[in-house]
Amino acid sequence: MAQFLAVSNRKGGVGKSTIAVMLAHAAAAWGGRRVLVMDLDTQCNASLMLIGGEGWDKAARAGHTIADYFYDRFDKVAEDESAYVVGNVGDIAHARAAPGRVSLLPGSQRLEDIQGELYLKVSKKDLDADAVSVQVRSRMKRLMKHFGMDFDLVILDCPPGLSFAALAALDLADRVIVPFRPDFVSQFALDRVALMIEKVETGEQLADIPFEQRRYACLANTLRGEGAERMLLDQLALDHPLLDARMPLLDSIARAFDWDETKKNMEEKYADALPHLRALHDEVFGAPALRARTAQA
Ligand SMILES: Nc1ncnc2c1ncn2[C@@H]1O[C@H](COP(=O)(O)OP(=O)(O)O)[C@@H](O)[C@H]1O
Ligand SMILES: [Mg+2]
Repeated sequence: MAQFLAVSNRKGGVGKSTIAVMLAHAAAAWGGRRVLVMDLDTQCNASLMLIGGEGWDKAARAGHTIADYFYDRFDKVAEDESAYVVGNVGDIAHARAAPGRVSLLPGSQRLEDIQGELYLKVSKKDLDADAVSVQVRSRMKRLMKHFGMDFDLVILDCPPGLSFAALAALDLADRVIVPFRPDFVSQFALDRVALMIEKVETGEQLADIPFEQRRYACLANTLRGEGAERMLLDQLALDHPLLDARMPLLDSIARAFDWDETKKNMEEKYADALPHLRALHDEVFGAPALRARTAQA
């Protein structure tokens, strides 16, 4: 069974999609993993990064998006879900014999509407509102879980909102990476997302969960190397597990966001961001706790 890794934060623009795609490329290129990126955001940024606007239009027209998948398969037992997946995406060249590749379940602007329709469908069954929500979420979770059979790693690029799909993804995830920008509102954003992931209501309850038992780890992104950042990170590290790996603010990372068809190697694509990505990859995929989890699954 695949490992499910969510990239999530209630705030937009913190680098969720960027980090999701970087980790996907790294896990495929360096770890030889078969990786699926599941794009759960209606903004579809991860999809645009991996297959470009034209590729995404084509997938949407063919009915091969995550919204189509949830809608078509909601009431059905498992069928061949690979029809919805676009294989060998992204602009990293992999050796022909290498097992590692990145695939994509493309995002859709219709994902939110579809969730509304699924809710109505279930609510016809004479259940109360809470029970309907639980059912929609748990079916979506099962549908996501199906992909675990075909891949080694499934990266869930989460939207900032709390849609059913987002909640199902957080529920399913073995581990959650929470990227953040080191500004004065980040503490608040991390507190909120941590409560949700650990399913507790207060900061006191959260504080009772030891760091090594938490499912999430925070990733400082867009660092400028200023002294004030250091203080903020030290402060955050009192309340939340922070990854040692950190991502500076770099043009090479910003550029990696733009779709580019030409296949290249990791060095060419990520340039001066490469050592930081390497550190992140090793910390996330080399962590013994994480390996133990995967072994149990
Ligand atoms: N470390 C970084 N250095 C430079 N630009 C970055 C970095 N991380 C993210 N960005 C840029 O910030 C913007 C928002 O990133 P994105 O991944 O879309 O965030 P989110 O998915 O959280 O909304 C994008 O333009 C991206 O290129
Ligand atoms: Mg995003």
